[in-house]
Amino acid sequence: MEPPSLPEGYQIRALSKGDYDRGVLETLKTLTTVGHISKHDFEQRVELFQRNSDFYTPLVIEDNEGNAIATGMLLIEAKLIHNCGLVGHIEDIAVQSSQQGKGLGLILIQSLINKAKEKGCYKVILDCSTENVEFYKKCGMKVEGTEMGFRF
Ligand code: ACO
Repeated sequence: MEPPSLPEGYQIRALSKGDYDRGVLETLKTLTTVGHISKHDFEQRVELFQRNSDFYTPLVIEDNEGNAIATGMLLIEAKLIHNCGLVGHIEDIAVQSSQQGKGLGLILIQSLINKAKEKGCYKVILDCSTENVEFYKKCGMKVEGTEMGFRF
């Protein structure tokens, strides 16, 4: 699947340590509670993602002013079933409020799906609220099951 093109001056790339100062945590607040994360803790977590790049593919979209205005993660699960298959999980998708409705979410999801394909996943799945179902359908996904959870 070819992702549509980004607006002029925007780029999609791997999350990096410098995204702390480019507002990626503010962007994530569009999705949920982020907490107070120090620069040190952020950098340690990015290092963990980079050391385990077979499993973690965090992406950001940077706007033409250098702000990290959209982000999303592909997490790869290594399984025994399906001949030791790999399943991609799309997690923590957020587009900054002022940048929503410009096709950036679609580009992000299609890029994460393409990464999952490149990395050999046999499927990509995600959990979302009912209000986002239509968005994910526009990204080419379909409803396949029911999410369940147990909170600690
Ligand atoms: N309901 C119906 N259609 C939608 C919705 C929605 N909630 N959101 C977007 N669309 C449609 C758009 O109208 C567009 O349709 P079109 O091509 O016919 O014009 C298409 O989907 C693509 O929309 P984008 O502009 O790419 O979407 P956007 O950049 O605004 O990103 C997103 C959508 C990620 C849901 C954004 O609104 C957001 O960050 N919301 C808050 C956080 C959130 O809910 N994240 C998803 C959590 S689920 C997870 O993380 C796995």
